[in-house]
Amino acid sequence: MPGPLTALELRARKSSPEKIVMVTAYDATFAALFDQGGVDALLVGDSLGMVVQGHDTTLPVTVDHMVYHAQAVRRGARRAHMTVDLPFMSYQVSIEDALRAAGRLVQEGGAQSVKLEGGRDYAAHITRLVRAGIPVMGHVGLTPQSVNTLGGFKVQGRTNKEARNIVDDAQALEDAGCFSVVLEAIPADLAVEITGRLSIPTIGIGAGAACDGQVLVGYDLVGLNPAFKPKFVKRYDNLGESVIAATKAYVSEVRSGAFPGPEHEFAGGLRVVPEATPYAANK
Ligand code: KIV
Repeated sequence: MPGPLTALELRARKSSPEKIVMVTAYDATFAALFDQGGVDALLVGDSLGMVVQGHDTTLPVTVDHMVYHAQAVRRGARRAHMTVDLPFMSYQVSIEDALRAAGRLVQEGGAQSVKLEGGRDYAAHITRLVRAGIPVMGHVGLTPQSVNTLGGFKVQGRTNKEARNIVDDAQALEDAGCFSVVLEAIPADLAVEITGRLSIPTIGIGAGAACDGQVLVGYDLVGLNPAFKPKFVKRYDNLGESVIAATKAYVSEVRSGAFPGPEHEFAGGLRVVPEATPYAANK
């Protein structure tokens, strides 16, 4: 069986009609299922801070958390490439921090590449990471780690000035050595422009159909959170509702005594022979 797809193979998709399909995963079970479903790449996203840990933002996520989840995803994945997010404050302070954090994601977590948010400000970080042997995926548009300066999780690039900035940032990421770039929550025509300019693949989430690939949060894709349905998400199942229905059936059957039935019991084991018990012997 061939090993997982490499960053170079994903980069080469730019000149192929086959789109890159990426999904976030945070554990071995989902990683194995998405892998069997045929995705090209699994993103251990810092969105785990929201969908797994229950925070309102991705900001509390640490490098230790990312290593833990990356290790689990690595165990479940076979063919899919694994990219792991550098979490908030693991690379913003210095290039040395970025190298140390990315090094841990690769060495301890099994990452084949890392992703970081931001444009020109991180060009030098990216060049240094790539020189150290770590492929980097960029991320522009809505960058959730900047939620406090952006004033919320909002579509970006709607004014000419913002759009120009995002184009320049995306170009800077390519020039710095990124092998691909995520475009999050930007108008579709801006994604057309960026995808046409860059010679590395763009992977969109809320960025329209022109991107060279798409990424979705895995829990959104399978409908695990019935209360969350932003415009850019397509739910391919309603697992959240199925889980609630299955849990209700379980609760009801345990209470009624219908579960466990005889088919769920084990035969054999300890047999209490009355004559052999101390109580019986003493009688
Ligand atoms: O953390 C994440 O899940 C992401 C995707 C939304 C691209 O960065």
